[in-house]
Amino acid sequence: MSPDAINQKLVDQYTEIARLAGGLAHEIKNPLSTIRLNMELLAEDFRDGDAPRERRAMRKIDLVQQECQRLQDLLDGFLDFAKLRQLKIEPTDLNAQVRQVLDFFRPKAEEDRIEIVDYLSSDLATVLIDRKSFHGALLNLVLNAQQAMPDGGQLLIRTYNTAHGVALDLIDTGCGMDVEAQTHAFDAFYSTKRGGSGLGLATTRKIVEAHGGQIALQSEVGRGTWFTISLPVPRRLPGDGVRLALPAS
Ligand SMILES: Nc1ncnc2c1ncn2[C@@H]1O[C@H](COP(=O)(O)OP(=O)(O)OP(=O)(O)O)[C@@H](O)[C@H]1O
Ligand SMILES: [Mg+2]
Repeated sequence: MSPDAINQKLVDQYTEIARLAGGLAHEIKNPLSTIRLNMELLAEDFRDGDAPRERRAMRKIDLVQQECQRLQDLLDGFLDFAKLRQLKIEPTDLNAQVRQVLDFFRPKAEEDRIEIVDYLSSDLATVLIDRKSFHGALLNLVLNAQQAMPDGGQLLIRTYNTAHGVALDLIDTGCGMDVEAQTHAFDAFYSTKRGGSGLGLATTRKIVEAHGGQIALQSEVGRGTWFTISLPVPRRLPGDGVRLALPAS
């Protein structure tokens, strides 16, 4: 078998596994919502009880509800990651996308004493992206930065033109990552956080790569982390709303 044929076989196998895993995740969601609903009903029965037995039961119900929520988040994250869908590619001002994400994040940043600094290029080239996916990709990075700075810090975002397209740097002054974390940060299900699904960066990378871009990271423990997203810029811009089918991984 030629190397190309072997490669294609692996891609086919991967696609089939991803399809089955996506189906399994869907199947798990239905019984999970039945469990959640019944836990909610049980909680209503026990919530106002004063007897020690009722209070003990309520604590256990709370625990099961928390774990159900965790499973639900995990499944939602996985389905987002595994989703094979058509991207709605549109000519877009990346700065506007960044501003939207920062506006969403600002109240939380203030609460956590995180200073946001942005340097958005005033002559940034237009990119072709699926805005909704990209919003999610940026949000994952910003949320990670926030979680890395529990005692406050600075989040710097800048955009600029490069020789091949445009780039976006997102730099935080958070806890940073050791070599092990840097090596595995983009792996699906790799997480150092309690309750983390480890799908945030894997999903972000998948989205960036589906747009023909790249994402890189540099980090130092105790100093912070620096992500760079590079995106190609088309020579000619198609009309609004052009739809391209992009691969899932
Ligand atoms: N800005 C950052 N600073 C320090 N560590 C980071 C940063 N971003 C990511 N990491 C590390 O990379 C790991 C993977 O990140 P990822 O976003 O994929 O998952 P998560 O944040 O743990 O969970 P999820 O995003 O699914 O809730 C994190 O657990 C953390 O160890
Ligand atoms: Mg994350």
